[in-house]
Amino acid sequence: MTRARIAAALALGLAAACAPFERGPERYPSLAQAYAARFPVGVAVEPRHLEGMEGRFVAWQFASLVAENAMKPPALQPREGEFDFAGADRIVDFAARHGMRVRGHTLLWHEQTPDWFWRAPDGRPASRELVVERLRNHIATVVGRYRGRVQAWDVVNEVIDPAREDCLRADRWRETLGPDYVEQAFRFAHEADPSARLFINDFYTTQPARRRCLARVVEGLIVRGVPVHGIGHQMHIDIATPEPAEVDEAFAQFARLGLENQVTEMDMSLHDAARKRHPGSDAELLASQARRYQALFAVFRARADVTSVTFWGLSDAHSWLDRGELAGRGDRPLLFDARLEPKPAFWGVIRAAGGGGAVPAGAVSQSPPISR
Ligand code: GLA
Repeated sequence: MTRARIAAALALGLAAACAPFERGPERYPSLAQAYAARFPVGVAVEPRHLEGMEGRFVAWQFASLVAENAMKPPALQPREGEFDFAGADRIVDFAARHGMRVRGHTLLWHEQTPDWFWRAPDGRPASRELVVERLRNHIATVVGRYRGRVQAWDVVNEVIDPAREDCLRADRWRETLGPDYVEQAFRFAHEADPSARLFINDFYTTQPARRRCLARVVEGLIVRGVPVHGIGHQMHIDIATPEPAEVDEAFAQFARLGLENQVTEMDMSLHDAARKRHPGSDAELLASQARRYQALFAVFRARADVTSVTFWGLSDAHSWLDRGELAGRGDRPLLFDARLEPKPAFWGVIRAAGGGGAVPAGAVSQSPPISR
């Protein structure tokens, strides 16, 4: 190829990549509007996603934001007493400017607790009292700062372990503070913002054993008068499991306890839990994904206890399912492709909103084949 032809090909590629942006995100229906009468549809973002055309896309499509990382404890308080709210503020300010809601994620998670939490000033392991004090201070400062501006908090994340007798994960929190650390975290959050809705957030919440354990832990909290308002269902699922009926049944169980159900981190892998790709062509997998998204959103829409549904990432280009050790497997878990063009899954979700059936001609993105 001559240099001129290479340059022309590059320019063409660049134009194709930019085209959807140039034409503006508003030419497609908005998820926020389609579900406005039912619940806010949200998305996990990094602050950098809120600029320019990408920001316009976020504001058009979504009614709620959550920080993918900017509100986790290591981002907010990397060293004891040194808070950094820059990233979190950008997200909360963007939401306020665009009339969006915010979910706060997360105040306590075994995977991301800065090391300083566990060390006393003399370098020895911190005492229970010191860790409780640090937890209280972290929660009071963070929830207090966003009082009235963050409407829901994932107070604790992934504390359930169905293999344990008390159903609680045997992590440092459980070991250092004892089983009532969950209760304490909720009480601290409620003190800091009595109007915030408080959630216990976890994964695989529809699996019978985990569901039983989650119900047991949350019933214990309710009996003790702890201010817990709902279950956060992460919903990192795949195109084959769980069945929509299982989701409905699990949500019904929690609703009977008087709790809200919020879907907090939704994505739908083309791979199963053992990380094996489901069989079928790319087109077949994306069509199955669309059908499953549509069926699940029909369940969410029909249930009054579902008060928010959030996707974990803007597009297939931003997903944790194709990063780190999972990089390169060509997963496509979200509603928009890498160019922010709607996938069949998007139209499935729009259809489930009841706003009309047919996918506009030529609207389904011509995504490049899935690389494996
Ligand atoms: C968990 C956490 C999220 C995010 C995802 C993917 O589900 O709750 O904050 O980190 O893992 O990495």
